[in-house]
Amino acid sequence: MYKVLRYFLFMLSPEVAHWITLSFLNILNFFGLLKIVFPKINGRSIDIMGLSFNNPVGIAAGLDKNGDYIDCLAALGVGFIEVGAVTPKSQYGNPKPRLFRIKEKQALINRMGFNNKGIDYVVKKLKQRKTKCIVGVNLSKNKETPLTQAHEDYIFCLTKIYPYADFVTLNISSPNTPGLRELQAEIYLINLLTNFIKKRNALVKIYNKSLPVLIKIAPDLTQAEVQEIVSIAIKIPIEGIIVTNTSIQRPEVSEYKNAHQSGGLSGTPIKELSTQILQWVIAASEKKLAVIAVGGIDSVNEATKRFQAGANLIQIYTGLVYQGPKLVREIILKSNSYE
Ligand SMILES: Cc1cc2nc3c(=O)[nH]c(=O)nc-3n(C[C@H](O)[C@H](O)[C@H](O)COP(=O)(O)O)c2cc1C
Repeated sequence: MYKVLRYFLFMLSPEVAHWITLSFLNILNFFGLLKIVFPKINGRSIDIMGLSFNNPVGIAAGLDKNGDYIDCLAALGVGFIEVGAVTPKSQYGNPKPRLFRIKEKQALINRMGFNNKGIDYVVKKLKQRKTKCIVGVNLSKNKETPLTQAHEDYIFCLTKIYPYADFVTLNISSPNTPGLRELQAEIYLINLLTNFIKKRNALVKIYNKSLPVLIKIAPDLTQAEVQEIVSIAIKIPIEGIIVTNTSIQRPEVSEYKNAHQSGGLSGTPIKELSTQILQWVIAASEKKLAVIAVGGIDSVNEATKRFQAGANLIQIYTGLVYQGPKLVREIILKSNSYE
């Protein structure tokens, strides 16, 4: 069924197809039809970071940038959704076209550049949601904010979203905002996380709830860089780490159309890169951080490998574009057999 739908969707530009698919899901959900198409399924529940996840499979950041589709995505049966990235002020992002398919390899290249409607809009959407599904918010900085003041943007968003989110992620790894990845370096990271956690701890007292804080890292780091990031994360401390964002490398795709496009590569070709970083994170974190694996998860088997490597939760984006909700639901069902 999804294959037929995909045939027609892939005749459209990726960004238009994205909008049409999610709008269609929203309409189905509005009329109560998604419940019929996707009956409730049970996966293995996970308690981590003070949260109870119905199952360990989530929707990765970037798919629902503004929180417009939270209820319909939850209706697919996922254990959590990460909306965003959101920045303090709305921004258009990079000029179109900025999203490209490499169909032969079930991959995408995007250089969206944090197109989003700003934190106030996302707060409104979180307030309006009906689902009890866990919703995290992926935070970032506006393009023009200098790196030395980046923490102010993240803290601004944290303060606004605090009562409404279940966790927040500091996105310091998108390749599409100039300089953003430098925030992964010790010189910026310590300052960013220290200030951010100081603010979070102050907000705990006001709202009587402690919002888990994660960082999301790139698949293009060296082992030494990963070890440094993990040791800072443990020392501060924060609650978790998401491994990984899209890649600026082009494994397996160089001979295909669109491979030369600038931006971040996602989907099947980044599974090895992403798994390597996951293994380094697991080894360095000694179970002191929650770990969410994302990047190239395109089958039940691939999801199983990430859990076996030590991930507590997983997320999917590109696999959903190529295979539809069936992929997510098969992994949820399989999660019942994990120890
Ligand atoms: C079009 C697109 C937009 C994305 N936007 C974001 C974003 O705003 N914030 C973020 O942390 N990751 C973003 N990502 C990265 C995904 O969340 C995910 O980490 C990456 O695509 C690897 O997973 P996948 O291979 O399952 O797609 C985006 C990915 C795509 C394809």
